[in-house]
Amino acid sequence: MVRNLAMLVGAAFVAVLGWSLLWTVVGQIKDPAPATVEATEFHKHPKELHLASDGWFGKYDKRQLQRGFQVYQEVCSACHSIRLVAFRDLSGIGYNDAQIKAIAKGWKIPQPSINPETGEVASRPNVPSDHFPAPFANEIAARAANNNALPPDLSLMTKARHGGAAYVYSILTGYEAQSAALLKAFPDVETPKGLHANPYFPTMNIAMAQQLTTDGQVQYLDGTKPTVDQMAKDVSAFLVWTAEPELESRHANGFLAVLFLLGFCFLAWGAYQNVWRDVKH
Ligand code: HEC
Repeated sequence: MVRNLAMLVGAAFVAVLGWSLLWTVVGQIKDPAPATVEATEFHKHPKELHLASDGWFGKYDKRQLQRGFQVYQEVCSACHSIRLVAFRDLSGIGYNDAQIKAIAKGWKIPQPSINPETGEVASRPNVPSDHFPAPFANEIAARAANNNALPPDLSLMTKARHGGAAYVYSILTGYEAQSAALLKAFPDVETPKGLHANPYFPTMNIAMAQQLTTDGQVQYLDGTKPTVDQMAKDVSAFLVWTAEPELESRHANGFLAVLFLLGFCFLAWGAYQNVWRDVKH
């Protein structure tokens, strides 16, 4: 009796679930959700970008990383922090101790600190063990200086966005006027005042104005031609490094682990052959 009752309740439950599922499907077919611009061809996928660090055996091109750091220093650091990176980490992209000391000392934004005598807010020059200081004291100051938009920290940006370095590269080089076809299909994505049209950004309009605008904006020391495209590539490569400074050792360790496992497979196979040597199977 109880069992029958329980089965009945269960059957009723399944029937209600089935019924609501049916009507959800019918509703989707009759009245589909409106297409968002992100799902159309107007929103572009990141451009192709090939970096030396790509692939299983990828290694960083340190000269490129140094150029990218220079772009960060001269352009991006005015608005974006890389708070997870310390000056001394720059040894990873080929700077020596003396160079790092000089870079830290000469950094435009001082390190916030406290006056030990009075306890008041103060600042001091950076030293190699400091993390890169943020350009703004806090979010409110950052927004106040940027038309109420917040320039995000860039340390992990290439990990945080779909497309990684290619996305950053595409954003930096992808500013373009909105086409008439786009505005016809999606009148409400028309660029509002204070934003900038960029089809690689999810909402098609980004608060950051184009930052890399002219060839030669940064003077490279290694003879590479500082075209807009090159600067964008270099700073994107640099941001791959800030997000994963240990990439090279990860690649090397991964390779060793695979080698070890292959060796181990061979040993296991040998042991198997040995144990079953005298048994017909
Ligand atoms: C004048 C200030 C300013 C400068 C200089 C600047 N940015 Fe930005 N950036 C912003 C602001 C503001 C946003 C937030 C945009 C938004 O949310 O619409 C932003 C957003 C970004 C984003 C995030 C896009 C996303 O998906 O959220 C990336 C990546 C970026 N900037 C990279 C750079 C790089 C690289 C440089 C140096 C070449 C740079 N920016 C220079 C102000 C700046």
